[in-house]
Amino acid sequence: MNRFHKKHILDMASLSVDEIELILNTATALKEISERPIKKVPTLRGKSIVHFFHEPSTRTRTSFEIAAKRMSADTFSISASTSSMTKGETLLDTVTNLQAMNPDIIVMRHSVSGAPHFVAKHLNASVINAGDGMHAHPTQCLLDLMTAKEAVGKIKGLKLSIIGDIFHSRVARSNIVGFVKMGATVTVAGPCTMIPPGIDSLGAQVTHSLEEAISGADIIMTLRIQKERQNNFFFPSEREYASLFGLSYDRLKAMNKNAFIMHPGPINRGVELSSDVADCPESLILKQVANGVAIRMALIYLLMGGTRDAHSN
Ligand code: CP
Repeated sequence: MNRFHKKHILDMASLSVDEIELILNTATALKEISERPIKKVPTLRGKSIVHFFHEPSTRTRTSFEIAAKRMSADTFSISASTSSMTKGETLLDTVTNLQAMNPDIIVMRHSVSGAPHFVAKHLNASVINAGDGMHAHPTQCLLDLMTAKEAVGKIKGLKLSIIGDIFHSRVARSNIVGFVKMGATVTVAGPCTMIPPGIDSLGAQVTHSLEEAISGADIIMTLRIQKERQNNFFFPSEREYASLFGLSYDRLKAMNKNAFIMHPGPINRGVELSSDVADCPESLILKQVANGVAIRMALIYLLMGGTRDAHSN
């Protein structure tokens, strides 16, 4: 496959294996642009991209901005707190007004699951889901696939363990779907209160044993406790959570000497992982961030009709 035929990027479930491979291969080809002294190609000159973030973000928002600028697209940013949604305008009115200005792509993060899917039904522009509620974060999964493939050499047969707040995590849901689709085995681990019923139906194996999750994994991905999405107490205290499910370097090395560490960020040092794990040689956390730019360059390029081998130099 050399060309992408979908209009939107909404979730991993709607991407085929061939489409995922096209995105990963295109990102790998585009990555070197970010390593040049002049980090810019004219490929998307004249294209307009709106970044509409209805929730806070550091990595996703910045990397979309950088990706668009490196491809020479024009970018415009709005956030909920500075938009007319604070005056009572609905989401649909907001995005149809944005559409009236004729952008080519709207990149959208929203706290409500399904919001980008709803918006995509009403717009001519392509929509990229930059994270919706507890549902999906497809661009995070794609950059995680790219990083895992670079580190381990392949995705097929790879063993990924995701540890932490699975319940509230759109990253966990997208990564289970994406990694399983590409032939990996995914195990999720955490306290019973943080493993949602039915998560195994996405293809994940479930354990409540940290040792079981760590031993034998090629990649261990720890997740942040998402306090902003919790209305109830899911565990007695952060200290107890850290002592039972937090990853320290000693614990890691006692159970698995060879695993790589991933985390989508933001990290809470001393809770889901200690600083000596976050900063250890096996940590891929900043490589994930760097690959986020390449993946987002690939997505906007492919959505605008680019082919794998033809980006401008
Ligand atoms: N991984 C991720 O989505 O980070 P941000 O919330 O900072 O974008």
